[in-house]
Amino acid sequence: EEASKGGYPHYMLKEIFEQPRALYETLIGLIEDPALEEAAELLVNARRVFVTGAGTSYHATLVFKHYITGMAGIVPIDFIASEHPEYMAAVSHEDVLIAVSQSGETTDTLQAVREAKKRGVKIIAVTNVIGSTLSRLADVTLYTRAGPEIGVAATKTFLTQVLTLQLLAARVACKLGVIDKSDFESIVEKLSSAREAARSAERLNPHIKALAVILSKAQSMFVLGRLLGAHLAREAALKIKEISYVHAEAYPAGESKHGPIALVEEGFPVIFVGTPGVEKKLYSNMEEMKARGAKVIVVGVDSYEDAPADYKVLVGSYDETLAPYAIMPPLQLLAYHMAVMLGYDPDKPRNLAKTVTVE
Ligand code: G6P
Repeated sequence: EEASKGGYPHYMLKEIFEQPRALYETLIGLIEDPALEEAAELLVNARRVFVTGAGTSYHATLVFKHYITGMAGIVPIDFIASEHPEYMAAVSHEDVLIAVSQSGETTDTLQAVREAKKRGVKIIAVTNVIGSTLSRLADVTLYTRAGPEIGVAATKTFLTQVLTLQLLAARVACKLGVIDKSDFESIVEKLSSAREAARSAERLNPHIKALAVILSKAQSMFVLGRLLGAHLAREAALKIKEISYVHAEAYPAGESKHGPIALVEEGFPVIFVGTPGVEKKLYSNMEEMKARGAKVIVVGVDSYEDAPADYKVLVGSYDETLAPYAIMPPLQLLAYHMAVMLGYDPDKPRNLAKTVTVE
């Protein structure tokens, strides 16, 4: 076991640092795979597009929703896999369901897929495991090439899912004529820099460790963002809860005024996920939190340099296309360091399984 950790104290840390390579291999694999075109073809001809997953994989579907809405003008309907019965009455053979699952074996996701298939819905799978049950049920499978993920909390599979879905969104936009072939190629070219973006984890590790010292003393915290950042905030809060057992609640920053802010008192930590394009609005949310005594932290792109925050982790200068790859690894690292500092094993969190095969 020690050898397979490659010198790292935990699989999770190894897997966080493996993200640059996992992203690159996923991209290379996909651009040569005819399944990308087949999946795009299904989406272009679909009456409606549904997306589902559980846990971290569900969060990847939310990020996909953000990108495909902006790029191709298609607004997919997302649902948490276990909630599928609520959506099944609405689906038909003209619809497509994208099911995202690292393992391809999560029972809730498989059930959603089986129910949709019964109604004639076409299935696109996004999975990390070749030959998994999900891939066998699907009409088309897009593989992430993250390599085996051992840590229970998903890290590298999340960002490779995001990249896969982002590329799919661009392919769809191209087929619809919203962007042309050269635009598509420049997106592929840009995505090849996801590798560099994800190196933010190595560079910022000492900074994140210092932040973890402060946050591991908290009982509870908020993780806020807007638009793309709201989705990343959900994933960051899930990571913190899963392995450090500190309560972290994610909210769209604007909505935090409608309830959550009532909990804020002197020293209450609020982490802002600083994605590009929403700086001004996030700054006013930061001010609101500070006015109530919150300890304000921002983990964001360099345009957050002037943020009115007590603690800033700047990940580099990235636009919306690359922001998740630079922002997520430091947030995963934060959860990791908090867990270790609190004396927990981040690879094997209590009550959680890597793959949930019960309803
Ligand atoms: C479990 C794991 C999570 C994972 C989720 C979905 O809850 O602990 O890390 O995100 O299952 O797994 P899947 O294999 O379907 O992506």
